[in-house]
Amino acid sequence: MAFSLDLKRVLISDSVDSCCKTVLEANGISVDLKTKLTKEELLTEISNYDGMIVRSATKVTADVIKAGKNLKIIGRAGTGVDNIDIPTASLQGIIVMNTPGGNTMSAAEQTCVLISSLARHIPQAAASMREGKWDRKKYMGSELLGKTLAIVGLGRIGREVAHRMQSYGMTTIGYDPLVPAHEAAKFDIEWMELDKLWPKADYITVHTPLIPQTRGLLGDKTFPLCKKGVYVVNCARGGIIDEASLLKALESGQCAGAGLDVFETEPPTGVSADLVQHPKVIACPHLGASTVEAQTRVAKEIAEQFVDAVQGKSLFGV
Ligand code: NAD
Ligand code: MLT
Repeated sequence: MAFSLDLKRVLISDSVDSCCKTVLEANGISVDLKTKLTKEELLTEISNYDGMIVRSATKVTADVIKAGKNLKIIGRAGTGVDNIDIPTASLQGIIVMNTPGGNTMSAAEQTCVLISSLARHIPQAAASMREGKWDRKKYMGSELLGKTLAIVGLGRIGREVAHRMQSYGMTTIGYDPLVPAHEAAKFDIEWMELDKLWPKADYITVHTPLIPQTRGLLGDKTFPLCKKGVYVVNCARGGIIDEASLLKALESGQCAGAGLDVFETEPPTGVSADLVQHPKVIACPHLGASTVEAQTRVAKEIAEQFVDAVQGKSLFGV
């Protein structure tokens, strides 16, 4: 017999597109949108709900989950579930769902924009124009044609980045422990071990989850293995590129520039904030999934997944 979830009241605690509420309500589920709750408010409120939907701002920690006496399901309108304590949710018998494909294209496009902006110093040149300057020499760029892009993490986003940057004439190489070389070859990506990949790359972009194996993947030990003047992009999770090492590599010239959409601390403080201020860094406030299309998609998908669970159709996600 199919499992069906008895779901009556859902709390949406981050700004998720309004179509999420519309879909849930159209299916008889009552919804409250309460963003910017303090931790204390959330701990009190959560017991009134049997479902919860978040983006990345709400930290669904063990104490929040335990305070959710009636909680049966947590939905993430997005990919990464690192703001949800999944082991605790599992122990409490709470289902955790995400919408992993909904923002893939937007995150891939953001990555490609960062790569091309690094090559041509677009934000720096635009800022200097605003200061009334006409500095053509300072912002001499380089072509992407013929350069090598290393992609670490050949999942949904990594593959889309490869496809798009190949159209610029870039050679794409990559590494992923779970994607074999023949699978990578289908996307015109030459698979290689990391020690072979670092010295070949003119640009490196990371598209992995942040897990112990990927924390500091690019760091004090690996930056020296890269070409001098390598460009790096992180549109995945802060910490995959070690920020203190990156700062040193930028200072020494080992790294010529970095495009950063994500930070170890968000909003940035400490080293993350130092990187934001660095003249060779192009920084964005975690905008990879911030497009109208992606936000509509993930909001609709998570609502439909909740409805499917209620109707005993399917359980999807983490
Ligand atoms: P995905 O699961 O499709 O791909 C991740 C890939 O990383 C997998 O193929 C996996 O095998 C690989 N991987 C795991 N460990 C690895 C390791 N040690 N070395 C190399 N590869 C490894 O995920 P995705 O949808 O492509 O998302 C990638 C990342 O981007 C995630 O961290 C996600 O949270 C993040 N993301 C960020 C934004 C944003 O707004 N900036 C938007 C969407 C996704
Ligand atoms: C994600 O993992 O989906 C991203 O962090 C995008 C987001 O929700 O901001």
